[in-house]
Amino acid sequence: MAKITAAVTGVGAFLPEYILDNFELSKMVDTSDEWIMSRIGIKTRHILKGEGLGTSYMGERAVKDLLEKTNTDPMDIDMVVCATVTPDMFFPSTANLICHKVGMKKAFGFDISAACSGFLFALTAASKFIETGTFKKVIVVGGDKMSSIIDYEDRATCPIFGDGAGAVLLEPNKEGYGVLDAILHSDGGGAAHLHMKAGGSAMPATEETVRNKLHYVYQEGQAVFKAAVTHMSDTAVEIMERNKLTAEDVRYLVPHQANLRIIDATAHRMGLPREKCMINIEKYGNTTAGTLPICLWDYESRLKKGDNLILAAFGGGYTWGAVYLKWAYDGGDFTR
Ligand code: UT7
Repeated sequence: MAKITAAVTGVGAFLPEYILDNFELSKMVDTSDEWIMSRIGIKTRHILKGEGLGTSYMGERAVKDLLEKTNTDPMDIDMVVCATVTPDMFFPSTANLICHKVGMKKAFGFDISAACSGFLFALTAASKFIETGTFKKVIVVGGDKMSSIIDYEDRATCPIFGDGAGAVLLEPNKEGYGVLDAILHSDGGGAAHLHMKAGGSAMPATEETVRNKLHYVYQEGQAVFKAAVTHMSDTAVEIMERNKLTAEDVRYLVPHQANLRIIDATAHRMGLPREKCMINIEKYGNTTAGTLPICLWDYESRLKKGDNLILAAFGGGYTWGAVYLKWAYDGGDFTR
């Protein structure tokens, strides 16, 4: 019997309306468009405004876009996995809330926390439910409202991040399309360099934690940069080699959008020119778990059935990894 693989059969996304550009940022902190463009590569980022709106709102909108494009009934969805580090609340899970808001009444949902690698971890975990024949339609959401945990008085972190969410539909395939391989890693030793200090069970919120700004992203940029370049390129090259893929065989690197210099270093190690990299960091910044599905959504119309994609990410945890995905449809074709 032919092996079942988990094919991506559609992609949706949501970016909030409000755009925060470098000019406006330079009025908030001591920075400039020139510094941000040359050191990171970001011009604008989208920010979710509106009282009471969290990551589940963006996830809901991304999933609705996905269901509409693929002409899928919400009642046919079996399971939803949401990768995020900015859940609406500790519990219930954001996936749970998205299921309710979209009317996916037969689906159950749960969240995965792996920061910027979250989408890779969620995609890999979700694909197992398809490969084993357990489920027929599974949605993977990646999204973060980073503006909710960013200190807009800290010039070292506030230019980097933005808000957004993307979602993919996974369905069984017997022709060899879909998620074909994954390499995932985590190293809790990296937590020291990138984390949020308070608000969890180890240091619950108090007036003092708020006063001391401990509910924001803490990042030692240079340490994270070095680890990101090393690990992202190592795993991307490893997954190419073990699947016997040359640079010619790879249609696109789909990299986490944290810093254009990290993307370039990874592509260089893989022997890929810029044209073979999905890059939208300039428009959206780093949306954490959102970057990879938002890239797929942005480039969908250029994708062809059979394209070999290498997804690669590095982020807080540390977490990192790469996924080999064979694209299952011609991107411009929404009538399938
Ligand atoms: O997605 C999660 C994983 N995260 C990442 O992958 C991020 C990895 N790290 C990075 O992308 C980079 O380290 C940053 C973009 C965060 C920082 O860039 P950098 O080239 O490593 O800068 P730096 O931290 O070494 O700072 C260099 C200088 C410093 O000034 P001095 O001490 O040399 O006078 C900073 O104070 O740049 C200064 N600086 C800024 N200047 C203008 C830091 N942020 C800014 C800013 N505008 N926004």
